[in-house]
Amino acid sequence: MDAIAIRPRVDPAFRNDVLAGLAAPVPAVPARWFYDHRGSELFEAITELPEYYPTRTEADLLRRHSHEFARLLGRGEAVVEFGSGSSTKTPILLSAIRPGAYVPIDISGDFLRESADALQAQFPGLPIHPVEADFMRPITLPAEVTWMQKLGFFPGSTIGNLVARTAVDLLRVMKETLGEGARLLIGMDRIKDVNVLLNAYDDAAGVTAAFNLNLLHRINAELVGDIPVDAFRHRAIWNDPLSRIEMHLEAVRDVSFTVSGERFSFREGATIHTENSHKYGHRDSRILLRAAGWGVVQEWTDEKEWFSILLAEAEPPRFAP
Ligand code: AVI
Repeated sequence: MDAIAIRPRVDPAFRNDVLAGLAAPVPAVPARWFYDHRGSELFEAITELPEYYPTRTEADLLRRHSHEFARLLGRGEAVVEFGSGSSTKTPILLSAIRPGAYVPIDISGDFLRESADALQAQFPGLPIHPVEADFMRPITLPAEVTWMQKLGFFPGSTIGNLVARTAVDLLRVMKETLGEGARLLIGMDRIKDVNVLLNAYDDAAGVTAAFNLNLLHRINAELVGDIPVDAFRHRAIWNDPLSRIEMHLEAVRDVSFTVSGERFSFREGATIHTENSHKYGHRDSRILLRAAGWGVVQEWTDEKEWFSILLAEAEPPRFAP
């Protein structure tokens, strides 16, 4: 009997994004496709790099101000985390405020269950209600937390990976998911010295480069591609007018390849844009939140003002002059 070749199941959304993105006038692939198993491992490694200050700085802020969180956020609230929860930051918040329930929301059921199990072991008495869903759309929260006050938690400056228009859409959707009277605790990365930013996204050990290039390996493996990965290199640039770090994959020579039977050619120096990471000034973060109906009530930042955690309240609709 002939051997049967087993191919990984193709995610049609991934294929559409890659085929349309590579053919676009400004080639780009959405950053969410970085996170296959290897990509998630590489991202974890990034968060521990000496150059990548956001994770460390945010965790320090959460630790340092845990007494204030305990006072301001009160007990018995339902903490609704957008994303499956970080192994370092989520426990700091949960120990500080001792909520009535914890609701992690993530599109990847596997990550969600893994991190919910790990947290349950750490907080045995805490009711945990994981929700497998795309938090870019409004979600009906589990019945068990309907009557609790909600605190949304969105750390890591993940909001920065979205352009302003999409970021405001997401913040509005979060307001709808959390409901009236909700609050939101959100991490946002600050504008700072360009060299600090560039080093954070182009580290000496090459972990961020491997994270970026892994996208090409993923395309080859899952979408029947023959991209010569060594024909591309990682580039991180600071786009000052748009206040963001951009990651690109730049062709180091003229190159042609196929993906899912379609042919693509890139000239030396041409790039595939793979990620934006927006950085915010003091007022920028407030304007972004206000545009989505969230009023900032408190902000915590480190001595160097490299990273901020903001607490915002859902504003009721009001007439405005
Ligand atoms: C997930 N996100 C907030 C990270 C960031 O800093 O924009 C992703 C990342 N990309 C390269 N390094 C880290």
